[in-house]
Formats: sequence, C-alpha cells, structure tokens
Amino acid sequence: MQQHRFQHVAETFRNRFGQPPKAAIILGSGVGGLKDCLTEPESIGYREAGLPEMSVQGHEGSVTVGLLGGTSVVMLSGRKHSYEGDALQDVVCGVRAMAAWGVETLVMTSAVGSLSKDLRPGTLVRVTDHINLMGINPLVGPNISELGPRFPDMSQAYDPQLGQQAESVATELGIPMERGVYAAVRGPSFETPAEVRMLHMLGAAVVGMSVVPETIAAVHAGVRVLTIAIVSNEGTGLSDVAPDHDAVTETVGRAAVNLVPIIEKLVSQW
Ligand code: HPA
Repeated sequence: MQQHRFQHVAETFRNRFGQPPKAAIILGSGVGGLKDCLTEPESIGYREAGLPEMSVQGHEGSVTVGLLGGTSVVMLSGRKHSYEGDALQDVVCGVRAMAAWGVETLVMTSAVGSLSKDLRPGTLVRVTDHINLMGINPLVGPNISELGPRFPDMSQAYDPQLGQQAESVATELGIPMERGVYAAVRGPSFETPAEVRMLHMLGAAVVGMSVVPETIAAVHAGVRVLTIAIVSNEGTGLSDVAPDHDAVTETVGRAAVNLVPIIEKLVSQW
C-alpha cells in the first residue's frame, strides 16, 4: 500500500527521537521564546524530517524535542499557511505525523485580530470553538482511515478539560485569559471593516489565518487540542489604526511574556 508523506515523517521521528512525547506545540510567530525554555533539546530541520519545507527563504522550519517543565514535548517551529499557496495536506503534514507517532495532545498559539473593542491588543483568548470560513478543509479527498473517520465529530474540537486547565493555570499565575470563538479566514489580505462587523455578528470573538486546518486534522486523528490566541490588533475598522504585520508581530512578542509561563506550567502538570 502506498505510504503517505506524514507516515514517512512519523517513522523518521520514531527512529530519531524514540518514544512519542506527551505533547506537541506549534508556535505562532512571535512566541518562539518558548523554544529556549526547553531542556535537553534535540532538533532536526524540516528537510531532514521529510516535512514540506517553508516557502519563505531563510526560514528553515525545525522540529525540536526536549523537556518543558520536566514533560517531554515536540515543538514545530515554522508554520505553513494556506495563504502562502501551500496545499492543506502540506499545512497539516506535521500534525498528522505527530499523531501517527503517538502524540496525544496539541497546543497551539496564534496571533489574531479582535472583533470587538472589549478585547484589547495583548489579551490572551482561550479558543472554545471555531468557524471555518477558509473555504477549504484538510480532510477533502479520500479519507485516510488509518488516522480517523470520514465524518469526524467537531462538537468539542477544542478540548474543554484542557481549556479549563489552561484557565486555572492562568488564574494561578495572575494572568487574565478570555474565552472566545475563532473565525478562520484564508487571508492574506486583512479583513475589511464590513467583514469584521459580519464576523462579530456571526458570534466570533477573534479572527485569524491559521489554527483551524491543524485543529481539524488533529481532531480527525484523535488528538486533543488546546489553542491560545493572542490579540495582536483590533479588527479593521474598530480603531483608527489599520492592522499591520509588523505591529502584529511586535504585540505578540510582548504578550508572549505572559503566554510562555502559562504553557510551561500547564505542560509540567502532564
Ligand atoms: N485578521 C486576520 N488575521 C490576523 C489578524 C487580523 O486582524 N491579526 C493577526 N492575524
């Protein structure tokens, strides 16, 4: 039988790193500092892992295995986005490989725009659900039954228990964390003011261009998902300032100071 790319990658992970770690972590841009918290880190590049390489020159993706707060984790640095023109199969290849390796929990971070004035830039939002407006789904095509069913349930795509745990840790650390629905758009253009008003009316709290393909692929493969979004900017039209990529990255970098200890403490409990 023909092997899928993610199966080769899973085999490479097994040969290179041995037993699957407790959790996988996919970092959005600006949260890279979490990687420096790993002890006994061992890294390989995406190319060596057999993962689709990053399309941006000079950004070699890497897979790092190590201990975070004493718990074994695998971190993927370098995320592919649908707006780069990559097929969703490539976007989710890492998630599927980690699932096939035996990783049971996936933690993701993502920069998002807020859809109301209540969520200021810098706020952390625990994602409770999503609305997929990307117009695409990584499960389109023949079902990969080794991973999961044809019609996977998405009623609890973001694991409520993991979410509760994350909230408890945030409270213990004295860091405010909100909850909300993530509207996923394909990008790469930012939204128009009318789109921001529409997304808010639909019941979403934040809007972003990632997370959802990875979540769908993870849930399909039986992996529990926790996503913490960082509000990097107010949605278009909510303020006089138009969203801007450099400002997004800078705000996320500042908010990561709060996010990193939450993830570290949370993972140490597993
Ligand atoms: N819209 C979509 N994606 C984003 C935004 C936004 O305002 N900010 C960060 N990612």
